[in-house]
Parts: sequence; C-alpha cells; structure tokens
Amino acid sequence: MTERLAAVPPMGWNSWNTLYDDYNEETVKQMADVMVEEGYLDCGYRYLILDDCWAERERDENGCLVPSHEKFPDGLEPVIEYVHNKGLRFGIYGCCGVKTCAGYPGSFEHEKQDAEAFAAWGVDYLKYDNCYRPTAQKADMLYRRMSYALRNSGRDIVLAACQWGREEVERWIRSTGAHTYRSTIDIRDNWESVKSIADKRILHLEEGGPCCHNDMDMLVVGMNGGGSNPETTAEGCSLAEYQTHFALWALLDSPLIMGCDIRKIDDDSRNILQNRDLIAINQDPEARTCYMLSCECSPGTFALVRPLSDGSLAAGVFNFSEENMKAGFTFWDLGISAAAGQKLRFRDCLTHEDMGVLTESCCIRLDPHECKVFRMWNAG
Ligand code: GLA
Repeated sequence: MTERLAAVPPMGWNSWNTLYDDYNEETVKQMADVMVEEGYLDCGYRYLILDDCWAERERDENGCLVPSHEKFPDGLEPVIEYVHNKGLRFGIYGCCGVKTCAGYPGSFEHEKQDAEAFAAWGVDYLKYDNCYRPTAQKADMLYRRMSYALRNSGRDIVLAACQWGREEVERWIRSTGAHTYRSTIDIRDNWESVKSIADKRILHLEEGGPCCHNDMDMLVVGMNGGGSNPETTAEGCSLAEYQTHFALWALLDSPLIMGCDIRKIDDDSRNILQNRDLIAINQDPEARTCYMLSCECSPGTFALVRPLSDGSLAAGVFNFSEENMKAGFTFWDLGISAAAGQKLRFRDCLTHEDMGVLTESCCIRLDPHECKVFRMWNAG
C-alpha cells in the first residue's frame, strides 16, 4: 500500500522561529546534518522546512518564482538534493495571496505554475499562508485551488495551511484537501503564548483525525529567549513550561515542527524534543483526539486522555494555575470499573519509568505550569 500523506502529524524543523530571513544554502545543509547526526530523524523529524524569505522579490519573465540568488546561488535544487540524500524531506513556504507575509511573491493566480515548479524541484511539503489575499477571494476556495494543483503536480506534497484559525477554518479545511491547518495566531517564546494556543485548541477537541491535523504552530522548545525573529522571540519559558508545551502538542495531535536552533540546543531541550514516549502518542496511527476531564476541587488543573491504537490510553495531567495543586483523574471517568476488577499498568512518559499497577485513580501534585503524562495498559 502506498503511504497516505500525513496520515499522522508531520514532524520536522522550520526556519522561521529562530532564523527569520537569516539563512542560506550552508545553513540549510547544517540543519540537515544536525537532524540526522543528532538523532532527530530517527525520532521521526523528517521535514526540513524553509519558511518565508527564500525567494527573489520578483518572479522571472515567465512568471516563475526564483530562489534568492544571494541565499541560494545555485538555486534550490542542489540544496533539496542534499536534504533528500540525508533521508529527509524538504518543505517550502508560499502564500495564497498576491504577496507572502514578508512581501515576497504570493501564488494567487500562479497556483498551477508554482505547484508544478515545487514538484519539479523535489519539494515534499508546502506551508501555505494567508497574507495579501485579494478582497472578495474566499479562503476556502484559495486553499482548494492550491490543494488541487499540488495533487495534480505529479509529486506527493503535504499541504500545510496557515490561515490562523480565521473564518471557522475547522468547518471547511478538511474538504479542501489540506493535510494540516493552523488554528491560532503565531506562537511566541513565552508561557502566555503557549497557554493561549492550548486554551483555544481545547475548545475544539472534537477536531482531528488522520490526514488533516490541527497545527498548533511551530514549537518554541529550546529557544530560551534567543533567535533573531522579532515576531517570535520573547522572554522564553522555564524547562517545566517547555515540557508542558511539548506534551500538549503531542497529545493534541499537532504537527511537531521544531523552531529552535538545533545546532545550539541545550541537552534538556533536546531530551524534551526527543521524548520517544510522547512522540509515540503523537504519531499513533489512529490519530485520535483527546477528551478532557476537569477537577472542580483543583481549579486550573485538567487531564487530557486519548485512546491509542494498541488498546492503551495516554493521559496528560496539567496545572495551568499559578499554585501548587493536587490533580488527577478517576478510572471511573475513563470508563474503567474497579468493581469489575479492572486495573491499569502505568508508565511515566516523562521519566520513562514503569510505575506498576494502579486501581481506581491517579492523583499527583503539580507545580504551576507543570504536567505529567502517563501511558496506561489494561492489567486485568
Ligand atoms: C505568518 C505565519 C508565520 C510565518 C510568517 C512568515 O505570520 O503565520 O508562521 O510563516 O507568516 O512571514
């Protein structure tokens, strides 16, 4: 059977959060090397994605997009070949309006031509933005257009819609053929931004499923307040907050697209990004959504629970409050009956330790913004 494109959320690295427009052929090759040599590809991070600012400011005389001569003196094809030879896939950025958000040429009325060029260059993923849309042109039609053009370009290309959650995107995006869709404004490197994106996603827990995933935006794990993008850079998060950020994105079926400079990452952040227990939850083949359990006696705490394809359950327990809190869930709420003798074997997905068999409930203490994630298997 041929691979279904984006059956599970795509994983990779994107240039925007950290590099902004400050990259070139050499930087891309360095990132590809690091993705392979430092174990990211083995964990599933496969797409190396160039965001905005890769092109010349004008199309050529045939109306074709032209890669920046300064950044890519030999064009993009040798770079893409280098990326492919590493076993990675290559992603690029475009826009459904007349210009990209940073003012480079957009694909409006050039969809077929651009899709064919991307396919000819060897592009595997297109992040497709929403700036400079001609008035009167509806987003659903414009995303349908590019989806159709890509699907008929002769190459499998993931379409990652970036429409910031406007115009009730969740109602129509799956039917355009897009594989992922942004549902919020751009992430920034602080807890406030992470929390507000998670809060919005939690209001739409019913969404999700194979081949069309709700994209909560690129990860800021490991940025630590650094990077040269004024739109993303902020004061940074604590390690516990980065951990919670990654756990939320993993459980909530978001693409896992790293945004920090993986050439300079600290060990703790690398461990968060390479947590195979959390990645396995995110990449579960059924791509199911979570349900939420909240606890009235501990305001600001909640659990997100997700059934996985091997019969196990994943549960994240979160503390969004500013106090140290008791939090957890009862097995009753999971649909598991202690009276019928049902029990669960627990694994701590952050420490990777087996915790033995529990009955009836799970109750823990969490610091502000902290989380725990468990995977639980039937134990009788
Ligand atoms: C928009 C997107 C960002 C990034 C920039 C590039 O703001 O939401 O993720 O792609 O455009 O200009």
